[in-house]
Amino acid sequence: MKLPNLQEAKIRNSREVQYIDAQIVRDLSLFKGKNYFIKTYGCQMNVHDTELIKNLVEGIGFTEVEKMEDADLVILNTCAIRENAHDKVFGFLGRCKHEKETRPDMIICVCGCMAQEPSVCEEILDRHKYIDIVFGTHNMHDLPNLLIDKIKKTTIEVPSIEGDVIEGLEYTRDSHISAWVNIMYGCDKFCTYCIVPYTRGKQRSRRSANILSEVEKLALEGYKEVTLLGQNVNAYGKDLQDELSFPELLSKVSDIGIPRIRFVTSHPWDFTDELIEVIATRENIMPYIHLPLQSGSSRILKLMGRRYTKEEYLTLFDKIKKNIPNVAITTDIIVGFPGETEEDFLDTLEVVRKCEYDNAFTFIFSPRVGTPAEKMKDDTPLSEKESRLARLNCLVNDYSLKANQKYLNEVVEVLVTGPSDKGENKVCGYTDTMKLVNVIAPKDTIGKITKVKITEAKSFSLNGEVVR
Ligand code: 5AD
Ligand code: SF4
Repeated sequence: MKLPNLQEAKIRNSREVQYIDAQIVRDLSLFKGKNYFIKTYGCQMNVHDTELIKNLVEGIGFTEVEKMEDADLVILNTCAIRENAHDKVFGFLGRCKHEKETRPDMIICVCGCMAQEPSVCEEILDRHKYIDIVFGTHNMHDLPNLLIDKIKKTTIEVPSIEGDVIEGLEYTRDSHISAWVNIMYGCDKFCTYCIVPYTRGKQRSRRSANILSEVEKLALEGYKEVTLLGQNVNAYGKDLQDELSFPELLSKVSDIGIPRIRFVTSHPWDFTDELIEVIATRENIMPYIHLPLQSGSSRILKLMGRRYTKEEYLTLFDKIKKNIPNVAITTDIIVGFPGETEEDFLDTLEVVRKCEYDNAFTFIFSPRVGTPAEKMKDDTPLSEKESRLARLNCLVNDYSLKANQKYLNEVVEVLVTGPSDKGENKVCGYTDTMKLVNVIAPKDTIGKITKVKITEAKSFSLNGEVVR
């Protein structure tokens, strides 16, 4: 994808970049004593990309601060999935612009999915000239070079050149307990509403040997949980020759012996019986699956390019529930896709009633520039879409509460991940089924898998006490 209007901009190709040695930059003291602030929008993939960016900028001398006002370098790692993500970013950029008026040396940097959108780059070039560096999801590792160019006063704009899979990246991980591991980048599914294949590029799987050695390293460092990340994890390896399938990869990751293995996100189309069997039979693969439905209407699913019907989804759902004991399933649903009628929407409600999801993330369709759905005729008023969303959320919340109530008085294993914001004497963590639990317990339980008796069930969390 090429960016428009880049006459004065410097165009770089990640393959031409000379990788710089962080030690050399540190020795030059270019960024000594400088602070950076990073704000992350969007999905787990972005959260994990931020861990990479942190490592890169800390590697050349920056120190993280918690307020944009204290930073010499401000980085916004953005999301493009819906229009409101765009509005939030430009809202925050307004504050940065104001700050830069008093501190002109401050460097403002926009990266991530929005930076891959040609229309956004055009907007930045035309109307937000105070932004110094724009780089896409394929060029992240190039950030130290861009910063060095910037302090040498070069104008920088980075086009979206689809990257290779870069190995050997280091991360400054937010947690010492639970780690993300990318197994693939991009997506080939091209659902008609979705911008991801354009902002993240085509599917590129990492070689399994590299994934396994990263997981082995995390095991040696004492991580208790690893989540394999990809837009479409169960299509893993399909873009490579002589590579493992996702169930084979999962089995090998499981063999390494980290207590909890998770993966996100799965596409129903690639969900095989072999995968169900691996999850069902491996103790350390958690019984939790995020299985996006998007719509319960076969007609709308076809328009969305989802490659399954309502009936096929329900058959898969039943198979998973039957074969994986105690599995929790969550989903994503879009309401108000172009042309969705009341009848289509009732089909979605019917699927939700049948599946009784543990939780569902629900969205109103947001037209994204350049996607096929953006051009589809959409005559449903926003007020009607909002009312459908409210009806759907009501149902979804009832089932979340019902699913959580099943845990009342049960003893479950919770991986305690940190202090809870629900009280000084509390910590929080997750069950194997990914339920958030707040527990009255000492801080030394953090990082441990602890037996907890559930004493209260709410729609979005559980409360419990440690079982001695
Ligand atoms: N409008 C609304 N929701 C969307 N999603 C993806 N693209 C759009 C869009 N254009 C939702 C899907 C996806 C989740 C991450 O975001 O439900 O699974
Ligand atoms: Fe987007 Fe569909 Fe790919 Fe998911 S599978 S990232 S919804 S194109």
